[in-house]
Amino acid sequence: MSMFATKSIDRIRAEAAENQHGLKRVLSATDLTTLGIGAIIGTGIFVLTGQAAAAHAGPAIVLSMVLAGFASALAGLCYAEFASTVPISGSAYTYGYATLGEFVAWIIGWDLILEYALGAATVAVGWSGYVVSFLHDIGITFPAALSSAPGTIITLADGSTTSAVFNLPAVLIAVAVTALLVVGIQESARVNAVIVVVKVAVVLLVIGAGAMYLDTANWSPFIPENSGQFGVFGWSGVVRGAGVIFFAFIGFDAVSTAAQEAKNPQRDMPIGILGSLVVCTLLYVAVSGVMVGLVPYTQLGVAAPMAVAIDAARVKSAGSALAPLIAVLPMLVKLGAIAGLSSVMVVMMLGQPRVFLSMANDGLLPAWARKIHPKYRTPHVTTILTGVVVSLAAGFTPINILGELVSIGTLLAFVIVSVGILMLRIKRPDIERPFRVPAVFVVAPLSALVSFGLMAGLPWHTWERLIIWMVLGVVVYFAYGYRHSHLRRDNEAA
Ligand code: ALA
Repeated sequence: MSMFATKSIDRIRAEAAENQHGLKRVLSATDLTTLGIGAIIGTGIFVLTGQAAAAHAGPAIVLSMVLAGFASALAGLCYAEFASTVPISGSAYTYGYATLGEFVAWIIGWDLILEYALGAATVAVGWSGYVVSFLHDIGITFPAALSSAPGTIITLADGSTTSAVFNLPAVLIAVAVTALLVVGIQESARVNAVIVVVKVAVVLLVIGAGAMYLDTANWSPFIPENSGQFGVFGWSGVVRGAGVIFFAFIGFDAVSTAAQEAKNPQRDMPIGILGSLVVCTLLYVAVSGVMVGLVPYTQLGVAAPMAVAIDAARVKSAGSALAPLIAVLPMLVKLGAIAGLSSVMVVMMLGQPRVFLSMANDGLLPAWARKIHPKYRTPHVTTILTGVVVSLAAGFTPINILGELVSIGTLLAFVIVSVGILMLRIKRPDIERPFRVPAVFVVAPLSALVSFGLMAGLPWHTWERLIIWMVLGVVVYFAYGYRHSHLRRDNEAA
């Protein structure tokens, strides 16, 4: 039997019913949208926006946001159709199995480790940076050698340098999130909802307070003249900026991994995916416009750009009735970021074990990965496995290497999902699709093209790492999955 055999939608649906394993169907449309927002608003908006404005787009970061949001919306439509048609926790992995065959499904599943596990690790490193900075603000100095990836050269207060050992706070947050997820998805969804309210409130406060103290002179020139180098201002800077802040939009697709825990996945998956994406795009466009209107964009290339921008509003508000409120905003932004980043990790580390679970249910990973905790009803084995991977990556890898790999891995998944949705329309026009991509023969190819375009803009060393990771995945597939696949076994028996 070919390793490109596909699994029929009917079989996938039947297996889902059988493999429910007591995963509880508890999540409503609001829970799913909240889950999405929880995954989306994170390191991207709190850290990368400022850097993209300062180095690539200038005030036109607003246009970069629109562009990256457009690319995500195209992919989001494709995810929404799949998630409503095949509401299984494996996300893009399952969609690949139904359309492009087992081998491609495995490749996507393996690729999703880059998005979810390494994505969570990236955010853990960002979280560590914010915590260390917050502790510094309140007079506590965290040992520099224990807050960066090994080998990072750190300049100490006395001017001497030291080499970092590992990133302790990043490991600690990964362990804490793992523990939370073992205890239960419903509990996790509740904690997530509280955090989402906090971080959306912080972003809204920044937009509201910032809008009152804008200096419109900061908006011009809106698109700074290109420096002569591709991607450094001008229109190419807008495009490169979109590539950099694409990371800020990653996460809406993680909603699809909670399909088997949704009360009414057919209706609610598209609401969760597209709803969270729309909310976040609007917030991003507004908040980035405010940030580049508060201070000259050249000042935003720092670790906490949102705090820098709002600090300008604090200075301008001195003496006004609002001054006491605005005075606490920079601190609130930091606290909001710390809470907000942890909820991104929750959703990513919720998604990864469910992809592993789906792969194990198909025989592509060993049976121990299928275990569901008797009391908590969570896939505790794969959750702990994910926790170990995230902790190691977060503790020992620099954030830029992680972030670029996450972007390229996610974009690859988007390309494959977009192609898959088109193939399924052609191969199985008959199946029921509660949500349909409008103008699919335009939207799906455009989605694949736009995502591939953003991949093409990433540096070659990131492509190299992607290729190495994928080759490793092929080796693992032939060493294990190919020989243990349930689909192959059943087809051969038949
Ligand atoms: N979109 C998520 C973030 O920006 C991954 O942290």
